[in-house]
Amino acid sequence: MNALFELGLLLLRLLPPETAHRASITALRAGIVPHEAEPDPPSLGIALWGWQFPNPIGLAAGFDKNAEVPDAMLRFGFGFVETGTVTPRPQPGNPRPRLFRLAEDRALINRLGFNNQGLDAVRARLVARRGRAGLVGANLGKNKESTDAIADYVAGVKSMGALADYLVVNVSSPNTPGLRDLQRKPSLLGLIAALRAARTAAAAADPPPLLLKIAPDLSERERAEIAEAALETGLDGMIISNTTVARPTELRSPHARQAGGLSGKPLFAPSTALLAEMWRLTRGQVPLIGVGGIASGADAYAKIRAGASLVQLYTALIYEGPGLVLRIKRDLAAFLARDGIASIGDAVGLDAPLSA
Ligand SMILES: Cc1cc2nc3c(=O)[nH]c(=O)nc-3n(C[C@H](O)[C@H](O)[C@H](O)COP(=O)(O)O)c2cc1C
Repeated sequence: MNALFELGLLLLRLLPPETAHRASITALRAGIVPHEAEPDPPSLGIALWGWQFPNPIGLAAGFDKNAEVPDAMLRFGFGFVETGTVTPRPQPGNPRPRLFRLAEDRALINRLGFNNQGLDAVRARLVARRGRAGLVGANLGKNKESTDAIADYVAGVKSMGALADYLVVNVSSPNTPGLRDLQRKPSLLGLIAALRAARTAAAAADPPPLLLKIAPDLSERERAEIAEAALETGLDGMIISNTTVARPTELRSPHARQAGGLSGKPLFAPSTALLAEMWRLTRGQVPLIGVGGIASGADAYAKIRAGASLVQLYTALIYEGPGLVLRIKRDLAAFLARDGIASIGDAVGLDAPLSA
């Protein structure tokens, strides 16, 4: 990273968090991106859902909600980028302030509430980049005022099915009332069946994988139900996890009691425990994306060994800057070499043996 760019990052941290985010997107759209020229170590490549991921480090949903900068983010070295959450119609989200930096805790709390420009705007941007290299997924949600959740997700799948490299059904944001109730088994079975049908209608020749993104705040019963539903419906994958409504006692920031979803370092342990449990409950048959508190190569490696085939991050990017992606990849490759593991695929689930 060049010095001027590093200075820009420092200045961003002086701005209120949402202003800083908007400024980052504007700068990225203007092409202010140092090119990350280092090729990915071959050991980091992994094949999944018919795609070849050059490395397993993805950008989590919420940073590029409107698909404004997926190619800029890929240039930072991410192996894939998830756009969204996008809802059928544009919506403003919750009143500000609604995003808080918990710097002492290396965490964020957000209650944005799916502020986004809607499917048509996002679709137009994905149409414009069609054919470009780089894997881009679309994370789908429902409008706050909508009374028919399934219809909203079906609209998302129809709009994005032939454009996104994978689709995510987000039923785990804590900031849309009632959304997380869709994680109960009867709801999930109906939802996934409807979305599989919509996906086939949208992209019969080459349907993208359909993934479910789940919350970290689930009861034992809910966790078991989700695993059963995933296996029964042949779900292509799960993303574990979204932000948490829990507030660990170790939080020190004055913002710790703000309402919303907590992300970053305090989410690492609970989201990794849930990942390992889901790996076991689904008997390693459902590919998992591990997300929550990753800020180093060691963190990424721990998620992979707990059962993740791919990982994602967002919050650490705010504190560490985009140079983090390159550091994580270098460290991850070094850990694999140290442990005599030829490639990422061979490390998946090593710490969560299925016979246990
Ligand atoms: C500001 C912010 C906005 C987010 N928006 C979304 C979203 O729209 N959809 C979604 O599925 N997850 C969203 N997330 C959750 C992240 O994708 C991720 O699951 C979570 O932050 C944990 O990862 P992290 O600790 O690396 O940030 C958001 C997170 C943050 C911090």
